[in-house]
Formats: sequence, structure tokens, C-alpha cells
Amino acid sequence: MTVVVTRSIPEAGLEKLRSLHDVRLCDFGTEPVTEEMLIEAGREAEALLTLLSDPVTARVMDGCPRLKVIAQYAVGYDNIDLEAARERGIVVTHTPGVLTDATADLAFALLLGAARRIVEADRFVREGRFKRWETDALLGLELRGRTLGIVGMGRIGEAMARRALGFGMQIIYHNRRRANWTTERILGARLVTFDELLAESDVISIHSSLNPASRGLFDAAAFEKMRRHAILINTARGPIVDEAALVAALEQGQIAGAGLDVFEEEPRVHPGLLASDRVVLAPHLGSATVETRTRMAEMCAEAIAAALSASADVPYRLV
Ligand code: DGY
Repeated sequence: MTVVVTRSIPEAGLEKLRSLHDVRLCDFGTEPVTEEMLIEAGREAEALLTLLSDPVTARVMDGCPRLKVIAQYAVGYDNIDLEAARERGIVVTHTPGVLTDATADLAFALLLGAARRIVEADRFVREGRFKRWETDALLGLELRGRTLGIVGMGRIGEAMARRALGFGMQIIYHNRRRANWTTERILGARLVTFDELLAESDVISIHSSLNPASRGLFDAAAFEKMRRHAILINTARGPIVDEAALVAALEQGQIAGAGLDVFEEEPRVHPGLLASDRVVLAPHLGSATVETRTRMAEMCAEAIAAALSASADVPYRLV
């Protein structure tokens, strides 16, 4: 059978797929992937291995009539029309769990980078501006005793909270459901309303999925309620933050900084963010460790192998 892989993935996954099926690797270049490109590539395919940037719509599914499985190389799946897949009997899988620690590590790296102004400091040294030790150069925010507000207390939110505990931070969180008792006790975490989280947090880290309630959640009104020394970290989904409002909030000093791994219209980044010294930027690297990306490739291959062998037990299944 034919497996179309929309962008090269680590060899461990490809090897497994090649041992069972005819694997076709797309060469889409750097242009954003369109529905037409996916249909053209997947016309004959029984399986599609997709990335977050691939629009897997009902139209694409209809254009790929032999499709039995879509294996998403990510934990998130906001690019896939799950309902359309369900209606057409197409299995959809993703890569849950495996990228929790890698993403929480990156979120914490952005937190430290923004709090201690690491990128600004790096530029300062490279540009030859380090003339002598100053008492007031590049002063940052000390984390001990500060409050971290977690938006979305799922697996990654919890992993971020565990890291923050090690730095002496206190945890509050906002979530649709209350975390279980053990989680709350271990993290010493307190459930608060969104407005309370905005008002009380010194650092806010976003870990929720993109859904109608979270889209644009961080808008001008939210930034007005944040503390002036606060830092916003987003490793979840770009459209949860209104970037124009964030740029305005930084310019007006409503908040002190941000660490962003995801953007409203990836790969485009708002020019105001590019121009700001107080923002640490990364190109959607949450899962980007050798171990995690390799395991994600293996998980996709395992799911495709099971689905194409008509196994009743497809792992990592969403639909
Ligand atoms: C995910 O898995 O959802 C990440 O954002 C992609 O690396």
C-alpha cells in the first residue's frame, strides 16, 4: 500500500514504514502546504503522515479516496477535520505523551530566557558593549517566590508546573476542569478564574489546546489586567494570543516580556515582535529533541502499520 509522508521525518519511522509499504516522501519546499498539494500527493495513498501545517480538510479526504489512516506527527491536531474523518471511516492518530517533557523544557527555557534577558545579554556581548561590570545592567526577574499561572493544566501544563516548583515558584492555574486532588497537592496548585490568574501571576505560561474558547484569549483586555513586570510564555498555539495586542502591551509597558515558540500565522512573525528586545522567539521547537522527534516518527509508523493491517487495535488513535 502507499504511504505519503508530507515532510521528511526521522529515519526510525521511515525505515519501519518502508519495510511494510511503498513510502512516498513529498518535496513541498518552503511554500505553505495547500489542499491542492495534499490531494495531488495523496490521490493514490492509503495512509497520509501529516504535520500541523498540512490542512487536512474534508476536501482533501475526498480528493484522496483510498485513504484509510491519517497519522499526525504532533500531539495537536487542529489542522485535521476530525468530524470529516469520522464520517468517512478514516482512522486518525497523533503522538500523545511523548513530547510532554521536551515541550515543558522549552517553555521553561523561554521563561528563563525572558526573565533573565538571555538573548539581549548575548547580543550585548557579541556587539562589544560589555565594557565593564555594571550594577544595573540587564536586570531581570528573580523566580523564587514568584507566582506562575498555568493556562491549561494538562500533561504539559503539569510538567511545566513541576519544573517551576524546583525554582521555588508558586502555582496557580486556570483550566476547564479542576485537576485531580493528587496533582493539586503535589504541585500545591490552586484553581483560579482567568481574571484572577491575570492579576496574580508574575509569569503566565499557556498550555491549552486551540479551541473556540482559547482563540484570542490573550487580547488587549487581558494584557490590561496583567502585572507590569509579568512575562507571558506561549508554547501551545499561536492564535491563543492576539499578537498585535501583545506588541501594544509590550510597547506600553503593560507587561515586561514574552517567550514565544508559536505564532498566530506561522511561519510569519509579527514585525513588532521581531523588533522587540523583550521577546525571546523560537521557531515552534517544543518537541524538537532528537529523542522526542524519533519517538514521534516511530509512533506514527506503528499507527499506520496497525491501521493498514486492519488491526482493531490502532495505537494513539483519536478517531
Ligand atoms: C504538537 O505536537 O502539537 C506540537 O505543537 C508540534 O511539535
